[in-house]
Amino acid sequence: MLQGRRVLLAVTGGVAAYKSAILARRLVEAGAEVKVILTDSAREFIGAQTFAAITGGQPFTTLFGETSVSPHTDLARWCEVAIVAPATASTIGRVANGISSDLVSATLLTTRSPVLIAPAMHTEMWEHPATQRNINTLERDGYLLIGPASGALAGGDVGIGRVVEPEEIVEAVEAMLSPDDSTLRVLVTAGGTREPLDPVRYLGNRSSGKMGHAIADEAARRGFTVTLVTAADLSALPTVKVVAVETADEMLDAVSGEDADVAIMAAAVADFRPSKSSEGKISRADGLDSIELSPTPDVLASVVARDERPFVVGFAAETEGVERAIEKAVVKKVDLLVYNDVTEPGSGFESNTNRVVLIDGEGQTEPWPMMSKQEVASLLLDRIVGDLAARA
Ligand code: PMT
Repeated sequence: MLQGRRVLLAVTGGVAAYKSAILARRLVEAGAEVKVILTDSAREFIGAQTFAAITGGQPFTTLFGETSVSPHTDLARWCEVAIVAPATASTIGRVANGISSDLVSATLLTTRSPVLIAPAMHTEMWEHPATQRNINTLERDGYLLIGPASGALAGGDVGIGRVVEPEEIVEAVEAMLSPDDSTLRVLVTAGGTREPLDPVRYLGNRSSGKMGHAIADEAARRGFTVTLVTAADLSALPTVKVVAVETADEMLDAVSGEDADVAIMAAAVADFRPSKSSEGKISRADGLDSIELSPTPDVLASVVARDERPFVVGFAAETEGVERAIEKAVVKKVDLLVYNDVTEPGSGFESNTNRVVLIDGEGQTEPWPMMSKQEVASLLLDRIVGDLAARA
């Protein structure tokens, strides 16, 4: 599965560094060409010669003075995927904050390839707000996190903080580099549209774009060809084609121009817009008794109506329970509808988590537990890929 693929393994300083020797072995067994970076702290736990024997090449250990004048750019451009395992709190902090003070952080800042980070540390360090802040930043910036797992930790205590097993990391890397997926064209909408009333005011909603961006990034990590039509001011992975829009009309235009095998409509498109948008700022002195509204175009309906209709996933932001969403799934003729109750704390708009119910085209429901938006994105893509495979 990894035959000939170029994998960079960065090992940072933790007891779990010994497991990265096994990881390197598994990657080589899977056919990958592996290059290794060891930080100074990693070398306190494991020797360079171990990795040299496993991978057939000396590990890189410093930003300066080795065989190349610029090892971080060489490695960043060489690799098709980079893994940091184990990833310590300090490396995570440096990468999250763009501090390129060692070879690992400088390489990660330079590479445009997907990066998988496997944290390992004591539970208290993992749960510290600073670490969690950094982890959230990494996720927002498009890094893929795996683990940590729970279990016995160095020092005899038990809790969350163990690096995940090498075999799981290899599986994740295989999924990231899966060649079959590159042909699937995924179109995602995200964010809340803004419908102008005048140059400074608009009719909008609370969508942050986090849900749609998480889906686009996850799809890109799997190697899909992804177009993200977004009304949100968030970043996306470099391999995602981003089309920035503001209004429902612009979103319709952008979506119309994109062929797709799968369309995932996570945007909160305003259903109405001010019928007239004033060219100048409406002044308080002039007064405004009422605002006349007109309906916006239904972007999702335009995709469902295509002759070459993609697999269509709608989202439903509801406040009155799942019943309306079940109706919506059938009426809108989607293949799947993702319902979220936007009144539930930690769910729907703006949060990093979401509790959703998946509804199929016949109205069958499948409730999912509360999880991060990245996890929702991942499970949703698993489900879509499964449904497409079943159809094929
Ligand atoms: O962006 P976040 O802060 O992360 O929040 C995520 C979210 C709550 C916005 C997201 O999970 C979500 O529920 N998105 C859909 C919100 C919504 O507008 O639902 P709706 O029931 O009004 O629309 C149903 C479907 O039709 C949606 O797929 C929507 O994109 C689509 N639609 C709606 C109106 C319209 N004019 N055009 C559309 O395409």
